[in-house]
Amino acid sequence: MKTPLQLNSSTNKKPTLPLAEIEHSAFCKTEDELPARPLLDELKVNIRWQEIPVEYLRLTVEDLDRRIVRARSSLGDRLMILGHHYQRDEVIKYADVRGDSYLLSKLAAANSKADYVVFCGVHFMAETARVLASDHQTIILPNITAGCSMADMAPTNDVLDAWDDLTGILEDQSIVPVTYMNSTAEIKALCGRNGGIVCTSSNAEGVFKWAFQRAKRILFLPDQHLGRNTGLKMGIPEESMIVWNPFKRMGGHSEEEYNKASVILWRGHCAVHTRFTVGQIEMARQRFPDLRVIVHPECTREVVDASDINGSTEVIRREIEQAASGSSWAVGTEISLVNRLAKENPDKNIFCLDPVVCPCSTMYRIHPAYLAWVLEGLVEGVVVNEINVEPEIAEHARIALETMLSV
Ligand code: 13P
Ligand code: SF4
Repeated sequence: MKTPLQLNSSTNKKPTLPLAEIEHSAFCKTEDELPARPLLDELKVNIRWQEIPVEYLRLTVEDLDRRIVRARSSLGDRLMILGHHYQRDEVIKYADVRGDSYLLSKLAAANSKADYVVFCGVHFMAETARVLASDHQTIILPNITAGCSMADMAPTNDVLDAWDDLTGILEDQSIVPVTYMNSTAEIKALCGRNGGIVCTSSNAEGVFKWAFQRAKRILFLPDQHLGRNTGLKMGIPEESMIVWNPFKRMGGHSEEEYNKASVILWRGHCAVHTRFTVGQIEMARQRFPDLRVIVHPECTREVVDASDINGSTEVIRREIEQAASGSSWAVGTEISLVNRLAKENPDKNIFCLDPVVCPCSTMYRIHPAYLAWVLEGLVEGVVVNEINVEPEIAEHARIALETMLSV
């Protein structure tokens, strides 16, 4: 064991929350308020929206539809629109392909034909597409303020400090960094630079196995819940998984505790998935005795334990589509996907576990007005909201992503 002369994370810091996390509750609304309205109405929600030319502010959803369809057909094969399952109906309908983060990242790596890839999702997804796409392709995120509060919980400097400290106190080569896709390109690059890898919620177990073939412990970033749920699925006892708290000196644990741990979990979470509770599951089961409960693994351990199935957005979609007609499903994931599944499977009873309607506020910022703006820009030869990643960061992030794609 090594003893560092000086710890980077040597003092306690005042705990803070990312702005995007604080803004989440501003988007909680009633079911009736979910459908898109002219952007000017939606801007009244007091959060950060990207500025957009005024002509888009008052357009109705129908006007925007006509303009998006026109721009899309004029761009033809030069354009590919990727849509994450959490996008609103009024946006996902234009996606050439819909999917979870894993599927969409594979597509971004495989399709080198389209000159423009417009990513209807959030910032880390567009960054991943940038890293994996060919040089001649331009990646666009329609609204630049569509980030992810979980990714914001792992700022580069805090993670670098933690990594330096951990590698300082642990035996050489005994730890491998693994980051969830929901992280910045800089964090993915840190993993690529240090023999690590990326995972998504659809391949986390395979990635953990890969990592444990290389080292006896993992630093898992930034979602403590996905990390813990994956570790438990693999039979790792909860006591062997400890949480690195970036606001505490040395992450809040002793050298001895880190040396005993198999998984060191970053203290991050998703504001959408941590709303689901065991109480909601119990209430839903009382109402529908044959209920099946399916949740995303970003939910807490207790919620995952109380559910019947957990998996990525693509797993949730597939399971429900293949379920027997007449079955009842309570779903613990983002409301746009739950409502879409309910609409597309009218022969089944599908509802969201949380009675309060709180969409992912960052996904929700992709309003059709932003899509119309970036597509009409492309028709005029103007690129709006291009996503770029510095070459050195991209090179190392690519290593971690390509390793994931090969597992
Ligand atoms: P998936 O990888 O399941 O698509 O999830 C992404 C996400 O952001 C969930 O909150
Ligand atoms: Fe991030 Fe949670 Fe939104 Fe997914 S649902 S993009 S993890 S804030």
